[in-house]
Amino acid sequence: MNIEDLRKAAAEVLRRNDRGTFTAPSPRQYPHLWLWDAGFAALGWAALEDFERAYREIRAALQGQWRNGMLPHVVFYGWPSAYFPGADVWRSDLAPEAPGDLPTSGITQPPVLAFVAWILFQHDPDRQRAEAFLREVFPALRAYHRWLHAVRDPDGIGLSCIVHPWESGMDNSPLWDLPLSRVPTEGLPPYQRADAHWVPEEQRPRRADYDRFLALILHLRSHQYGESGVRHSPFRVYDVLFNALRHRSEEALHAMARILGEPTGEIEGWLERSRAAFQTRLWDPARGFFLDWDGIAGDRIPVIAAGGFLALYAGLATPEQAREMVDRYLRNPEAFAPDGGTRYLVPTVSKADPGWEPRRYWRGPIWVNLNALIAHGLARYGFHELAGEIRRHTLELIARSGFHEYYDPRTGEGLGIGDFTWSAALLLGWELL
Ligand code: GLC
Repeated sequence: MNIEDLRKAAAEVLRRNDRGTFTAPSPRQYPHLWLWDAGFAALGWAALEDFERAYREIRAALQGQWRNGMLPHVVFYGWPSAYFPGADVWRSDLAPEAPGDLPTSGITQPPVLAFVAWILFQHDPDRQRAEAFLREVFPALRAYHRWLHAVRDPDGIGLSCIVHPWESGMDNSPLWDLPLSRVPTEGLPPYQRADAHWVPEEQRPRRADYDRFLALILHLRSHQYGESGVRHSPFRVYDVLFNALRHRSEEALHAMARILGEPTGEIEGWLERSRAAFQTRLWDPARGFFLDWDGIAGDRIPVIAAGGFLALYAGLATPEQAREMVDRYLRNPEAFAPDGGTRYLVPTVSKADPGWEPRRYWRGPIWVNLNALIAHGLARYGFHELAGEIRRHTLELIARSGFHEYYDPRTGEGLGIGDFTWSAALLLGWELL
């Protein structure tokens, strides 16, 4: 398939998954709105030059916003469905801050919306419409980031913590093995998973992980998803990917504030603090990589995961750090680079990690969104050849196996659900990032 055919096929996937107000990540597997998926879908619509539709996607995500500023990771448009855990498990109606008319989850997801909104604003040929959109969404986006700072930095380190692995978007990454091991599961009610209906179980999280996912929801729910639930959470991690995307979004907020004549001082403070925290807290000089910070253990998590490269996308690495990460890990066949065993870039976890599993969801397979963000980060630091290689590998995977959710880095086989929205949307919108 040539690139034009791929684009046509991608546009068809988006149209098929379009539910009018939002684009389902997959109508069967994920039938509602997911937060960072909505950001990527909007880029796909923009690449098709349908800015109205792209704006609608952002609005649909913002519609779920809580009164404290939180943007939930799922907005249950179209509920009820067979999805688990559904609105009946989350029970956002128990939380005084939740919107009264729309069921949502009670946790967030990587903060991509502000930088996506900024990209849409920059590319919309109708300048009047673009500026009206910016004016419309800026207050909600700023409120979200205020919440990320006020509520999600209980240790006061200049970063935002996640209190559930789902907030990272990388549900069962080996990053969470150690912090999750502290989550108690006694007294968990019996439950029925729905995620292994369309996808073989060996490609999905293990039951033991699911128990902990559910236990964390029940913990947060018992605190009505408020601040006390965050402070008492048995799981509290300051993740590199999450905070790199937060930084990138706050750069976008800063640019928006300047255009709209809004004050910029608060946002400048955020940017300064995260720049410092990436250096003092997340950079591990011995390993030469950005690592997640475990807020409960007070230590870095020694797992080399692809999310670490997103520090480059946010411009948070020094040129020397970027070079070390590339030489020691990305170009190293024992870590991420192709060798006799793997053929494609970029596996989600270093192959040297004991938790590496090339077919199981976020424990090894390749994801299109991470590839796109990593490639752009590399280009930002001058590694154009490597960025081009990642782009070529991604196209090859899609041409070979279709718009899958993730891919086996050894064979290129498509894994998870097919016709997955962000794989199609980012093939279309790759250059926009
Ligand atoms: C899974 C993924 C998450 C994504 C969601 C919807 O939970 O891990 O990143 O947002 O599905 O596609």
